[in-house]
Amino acid sequence: MRLFKTVAGLRTYLASKKDKQTIGLVPTMGALHQGHLSLIHRAIAEVDVVVVSIFVNPLQFAPHEDLGQYPRQLETDAKLCEQSGVTAIFAPTPDEMGVDPTFDQLTQVIPPSSMISSLCGPFRPGHFQGVATIITKLLNIVSPDVAYFGEKDAQQLAIIRQLVQDLNLPVIIKGCPIIREPSGLAYSSRNQYLSDKEKKEAIALYQGLESAKQAFMAGERHTKILIACVKDTITSHSDITIQYIECVHPQTLQPLDTIEEAGLLAIAAYVGSTRLIDNVVLRLR
Ligand code: PAJ
Repeated sequence: MRLFKTVAGLRTYLASKKDKQTIGLVPTMGALHQGHLSLIHRAIAEVDVVVVSIFVNPLQFAPHEDLGQYPRQLETDAKLCEQSGVTAIFAPTPDEMGVDPTFDQLTQVIPPSSMISSLCGPFRPGHFQGVATIITKLLNIVSPDVAYFGEKDAQQLAIIRQLVQDLNLPVIIKGCPIIREPSGLAYSSRNQYLSDKEKKEAIALYQGLESAKQAFMAGERHTKILIACVKDTITSHSDITIQYIECVHPQTLQPLDTIEEAGLLAIAAYVGSTRLIDNVVLRLR
């Protein structure tokens, strides 16, 4: 496995591969867990050359958020990638990526306002602009045939699909299912912040979504009732502070009153001081 810290180094290496081999990109911020590894394994099964980017992107953190605290463990991550059969890691510095936080003269990619007016958008101003900008840069640096993203970050995935379509980027975007711990808690790099007690409490997020899924499968189509289902389960089992529970169209992210074909039921909540997100897609068969 190769490790590249510069754009030029990675580009030179990939140039020799491009003609004959397919390239897959798995963008991450590191602190790799089973969720990330599922994307990596899928890429390894589907393409010849797998590049994993590890970059804690300053552009997508607001000043009060956890940029400084965010876990950085390149050595451990590199071992996991090597064991999985990754071809190359791209781990640039903010300076190499041209996104040093002190530098504000940067061309940025702004997602459609309709896609950032729901879910995490209003609570994380500038976040999806930071994500869209860094993903555009990574896609331009690596020029992959396929890029892999998790459904855990469903709003991010929908925005990236739209970005690729709107800017005619020549890449296939693949969404991969949410990977959960046996308890139901979705893997997240931020789970590292949770105490044992908080980790147990956090399971209520999944339990809430599951109770709404049961109601949906029993025929409930009104999103107000499905949302109340999530809320009631969470508040009766934990002290979690809910930021939002919303049900939107999975592609357009527009709020839904009733589910006609599919609805993305998503939640953000604070467990102690840690903000977690989770979701489930409710789909008619
Ligand atoms: P990060 O949080 O490191 O996640 C990297 C990728 O792993 C994302 O596509 C995310 O959806 C996926 N992922 C995380 N937890 C998952 C889980 N439990 N199951 C399945 N997939 C999971 O998302 C980002 O980084 C950044 O915003 C990034 C796209 C790299 C841009 O900076």
